[in-house]
Amino acid sequence: MRKIAFAAAAAVVLGAGLWGCGKAPEASKPEVLLDAAVITPVPLPTTADYPVAQATIQGWINTSNTAAIRNHAWQLWQAMSQPSGQVFNGQDLPIWDTWAGSAEVFPPAPTGLQATATAPKTTVADRVKAPRSPHQFISPNQFHHGRGGIPSPQFDGAITAFNKFSPEAAAFIDSSQPGPGGPYTYSNGNDLGLLNQNWPTTTPAQNRTINAFPTRGIELKPVFGLVKATGLTIQPLWQGPGGSTNATNPMPPTWTTCVLIDPNGKGAVRPATKEEIAQAPNAAGAAYFSACKTFLWGPLSSFYAVKLSAAEAAAFNAANAPPPTPAPPLAAKGDYAVLQAMHVNTKEIPFWTWQTFWWQPGGDTPNGFPGSKQGQPSSLKTPWNNYASCTAYDQTTTPGGSTMTVCFNPYLETSTNIPAGITSNCMSCHGVAVIAANAPYPLAYTAPISFFTDKTYFTTSNTQADFSWAVAGAAVVPPKTSTTTKSK
Ligand code: HEC
Repeated sequence: MRKIAFAAAAAVVLGAGLWGCGKAPEASKPEVLLDAAVITPVPLPTTADYPVAQATIQGWINTSNTAAIRNHAWQLWQAMSQPSGQVFNGQDLPIWDTWAGSAEVFPPAPTGLQATATAPKTTVADRVKAPRSPHQFISPNQFHHGRGGIPSPQFDGAITAFNKFSPEAAAFIDSSQPGPGGPYTYSNGNDLGLLNQNWPTTTPAQNRTINAFPTRGIELKPVFGLVKATGLTIQPLWQGPGGSTNATNPMPPTWTTCVLIDPNGKGAVRPATKEEIAQAPNAAGAAYFSACKTFLWGPLSSFYAVKLSAAEAAAFNAANAPPPTPAPPLAAKGDYAVLQAMHVNTKEIPFWTWQTFWWQPGGDTPNGFPGSKQGQPSSLKTPWNNYASCTAYDQTTTPGGSTMTVCFNPYLETSTNIPAGITSNCMSCHGVAVIAANAPYPLAYTAPISFFTDKTYFTTSNTQADFSWAVAGAAVVPPKTSTTTKSK
């Protein structure tokens, strides 16, 4: 049996758990929302659909079997979203939400006295045993900068996110890995920097790489928006670049179709009534989402939503700081973080499988660009069936072909900080994830990148991060220590 150790007042939380049914908590029982609890990461169950043999997936890629690839993406989505039995603030978390986040997998490097050899070394397994919030909001690192060398661009959207790692990925990143002058622990930024420094000068660029993640390694990037606990909150709806005031960088604040989200409403997303449209100027987010022209109405339940504790709300606001002008609504305790999007990578094949999901209640976008809800299993439960997806298991649409795969997430890669984002695919950009002071993104997606020989990206001064920008970004480059040998 899984052990769920709540901090104080668990009984009160469970008693107040009625919010999920749309009923207000009874006035006599003030709602207690914990900032943290012990949540045990639950692995994705082994089934016929996960993990799928490398040869099978490679067969889909070789025959451009898009239907099989999309089906795999949906199977992963469905498996990940199953209830885990791990409860946080009255909510049975989906399996993926139990996984360790960046804060547990990449703990801040010890500084000062703590950096001495006698500092106790904790493992990710220890760290997830401590009470934690499953939602440690930050602004996506691809918009700002990693802890390593990813350049720092400007802020351009009220988007909060974090990374999550399957238990197998987390254990791998935190384990002792052989390497030149090693071993190295990839969860330690200084180790990554040292690894990069310690390759023998004779090692060719293409062989300078971290070791490969395990087959059951999965990395996620969930993206959250905000819905206020009372009144209507605006959430823009992706309708393709044509449904935006900015065809090149169609970021969420430029979308012209918007949904008025009712925290207590029921039913499907539908056109807003005249009365509801009249309320739109006063809805939360009206100033920030000023491009809205067409209004729909929808309930909170069309999203995967989590009720925010005081600390989570503070983290949510801090992730958007300094806020853009006009400012998006601020989160307060009791408001909801709603899942707008999620990137999902699995190491079932050496170059990983790539799929992304975004909120798309109702019909698909015109042309199903860059993806759709097509092929969803009928067993996929709400709210998970309100998300569309696209996949990029290869850089090109046919093996060795010249037509590039286009798959991006409308919430992330539309940013002005991602060059040519709306022509991008996941694999081309993640394939160039290297430990380096200023690792460049691809400037265009007009031809596949030669992994790992293209001299623009793979040099004798950097180290490939097995497609993980999270690992690349965690590296401290150049290493703070001047020793070139490893003594741990
Ligand atoms: C322009 C480059 C670029 C593109 C295109 C891109 N990503 Fe990323 N991705 C990044 C960077 C940079 C990070 C930041 C790592 C971090 O958060 O520390 C990241 C983070 C992630 C993460 C968190 C774990 C990790 O590897 O860092 C996942 C999962 C992910 N991306 C998946 C995808 C998927 C799926 C797609 C395609 C739909 C995609 N990415 C497209 C650059 C890109």
